[in-house]
Amino acid sequence: MKRSKISIVGAGNVGATTAHWAAAAELGDIVLLDIPQTENMPKGKALDLFEASPIIGFDSRITGTTDYADTANSDVVVITAGIPRKPGMSRDDLLATNAKIVGSVAAEIAKVSPDAILIVVSNPLDAMVQRALAVSGFDRRRVIGQAGVLDTARYRSFIAAELDVSVEDVQAMLLGGHGDTMVPLLSCATVGGIPVTHLIKPERLAEIVQRTRDGGAEIVKLLKTGSAYYAPAAATAQMVEAIVKDKKRLIPCAVLCENEYNVGGFCVGVPVILGKNGVEKIIEIPLNADEKTEFQKSIDAVKSLVDSMSKLVG
Ligand code: NAI
Ligand code: 2OP
Repeated sequence: MKRSKISIVGAGNVGATTAHWAAAAELGDIVLLDIPQTENMPKGKALDLFEASPIIGFDSRITGTTDYADTANSDVVVITAGIPRKPGMSRDDLLATNAKIVGSVAAEIAKVSPDAILIVVSNPLDAMVQRALAVSGFDRRRVIGQAGVLDTARYRSFIAAELDVSVEDVQAMLLGGHGDTMVPLLSCATVGGIPVTHLIKPERLAEIVQRTRDGGAEIVKLLKTGSAYYAPAAATAQMVEAIVKDKKRLIPCAVLCENEYNVGGFCVGVPVILGKNGVEKIIEIPLNADEKTEFQKSIDAVKSLVDSMSKLVG
């Protein structure tokens, strides 16, 4: 069986750690790419990871490069290129810089891997998916943002810790943008099939929902020099796995929604089935009145970010 080719653009914390999880799970051969100014950094990380293969027992070729030609004909391309948020940095700083970076990366990838599925990770996530979609010209099924897998993982781990149960028994779903306005759905959170609302009091659940929304900021505050990467990378590798193994996982991803949920042409997090074609289907679920209001607020926040981006990069 031919191995999948997975390229990861941006060999920083999230990119290299995604390579780590993906290699350990033997998802395919991996190319790590970064800018020429980093000189041999991607080569060094790739070689170091490859040398772990006999110990962990995976058969993946891992190479580092600064040349897009080496990523040609990738099956999946993960975009983590950009700057992470540091304390004191404004959202607009990130938006202007990363919109340019993600745009240039998407253009290069479209030239050398026209059939690839793109997984966008760079922030501000929803706007960056919109940017990669516009610049690549790819079908919306092949440009997918990672945020919901991470955000639900945070939600699930906090619920598991609260109840002292296995994380494996906690399921959850959320909607909306990757930011303060994300909408963790109480109606879809279950523990061993039991609605979480039967197990945790409303006021405590509200605290867990808030902690989930603030999950990224909590890590930035602790690390001080950058943002989270272990869980974001694990989330990204799970999406790669769903695609290369055609697993048809039902997970939240940021995708372009037209009529779905009445979003009207913006990239936001919704439940999708993820398989070998990328987004196989967007799943629409009925929302209660509160969830509808919160989702609309989240869509509005994404729209305003995309508007600002259009003013900055056209
Ligand atoms: P990092 O600074 O460790 O790595 C970023 C890498 O991108 C650097 O190695 C840099 O040289 C490279 N880069 C910059 N411009 C490039 C270009 N034009 N082409 C190729 N590579 C380029 O940052 P980290 O922590 O890996 O975060 C990366 C991005 O992912 C940030 O925007 C961050 O906010 C975002 N992020 C998103 C998450 C999500 O859930 N969607 C979670 C965690 C981070
Ligand atoms: C996070 O949620 C920074 O988006 C990143 O950790």
